[in-house]
Amino acid sequence: MSLHSLIAALPKAELHVHIEGTLEPELMFEIAQRNGVEIPYRNVEEIRAAYEFHNLQSFLDIYYAGAAVLLHEQDFFDLTYAYLLRCKADNVVHTEIFFDPQTHTARGVAFETVIGGMLRACEAARKEWGISSLLIMCFLRHLSEESAFETLEQALPFKENIIGVGLDSSEVGHPPSKFERVFARAREAGFLTVAHAGEEGPPQYVREALDLLEVARIDHGVRSEEDEELMERLVDLQMPLTVCPLSNLKLKVVGQLAQHNLRRMLKRGVLVTVNSDDPAYFGGYVNHNFTELADALDLTAGEIRTLCKNSFAASFLSDEEKERWCSRIDKIV
Ligand code: HPA
Ligand code: ZN
Repeated sequence: MSLHSLIAALPKAELHVHIEGTLEPELMFEIAQRNGVEIPYRNVEEIRAAYEFHNLQSFLDIYYAGAAVLLHEQDFFDLTYAYLLRCKADNVVHTEIFFDPQTHTARGVAFETVIGGMLRACEAARKEWGISSLLIMCFLRHLSEESAFETLEQALPFKENIIGVGLDSSEVGHPPSKFERVFARAREAGFLTVAHAGEEGPPQYVREALDLLEVARIDHGVRSEEDEELMERLVDLQMPLTVCPLSNLKLKVVGQLAQHNLRRMLKRGVLVTVNSDDPAYFGGYVNHNFTELADALDLTAGEIRTLCKNSFAASFLSDEEKERWCSRIDKIV
């Protein structure tokens, strides 16, 4: 079996995907028209042409503007259902989806509109294709602690439908310590925690995420490699890093995929996984991230298998489900 066929054949979990980042230009255009929302593009080609980024912030500006077309429960359903259809195509059998309520509540969209549409799509994908999903609510770190506390309060009635909380948006200047108290309250309420750290921010932010936010995973974390002691700690803890190769390339965290440190970290024993982050903006879903990375870094079939097993090991599935998927991977030859 070729490496690309192996990638397609292996079941995977996706652990780092922002639902707002799965809004394809075609759907953005369609929803903008039906909702009568003005967007600064005349057609789908113009939307695609705007997707040239030089860092995280230049992406976020365009990404938040695109999300403004989402108003109704049906919009969030359509968005999530379209993503889950891509999961089916890529053999992603389990996904843990980030959503950013503040991006929507700030525009007057109710929290329950957002989560209601998402949950309905997740339920449909479970019934129709057997894909399991969990939701992780992210706080926008460029906003205040107070706004994060308010968002946490809004989430409490939906606690049973939200497995954990995360932290995303503009990293530099907004360290994890800014949200120490919010995360403490979230953990008290029973939420698991994750955080974006070490994407553009320094290794110190990864340390803060571990020490102050008590995260179960680090999202991105690629700059951890600059701190040898931190690397040892990540290996000792078997702390998962949810790495997003095409995102790192498009946001210029790395100059070229061939320079990506994922393989080095894997060899060093870090529990790294491969994810798409914002696939509609960065040029590909999970399998495309795998194939591009495999070609650029000359990954072996064994490494591909390990990465797929890692995706389950690092997930919030039960030990039984993790075992079941990992033995399924072993049976595919
Ligand atoms: N980093 C921070 N915030 C984000 C990202 C990211 O890669 N994608 C969507 N929001
Ligand atoms: Zn992300």
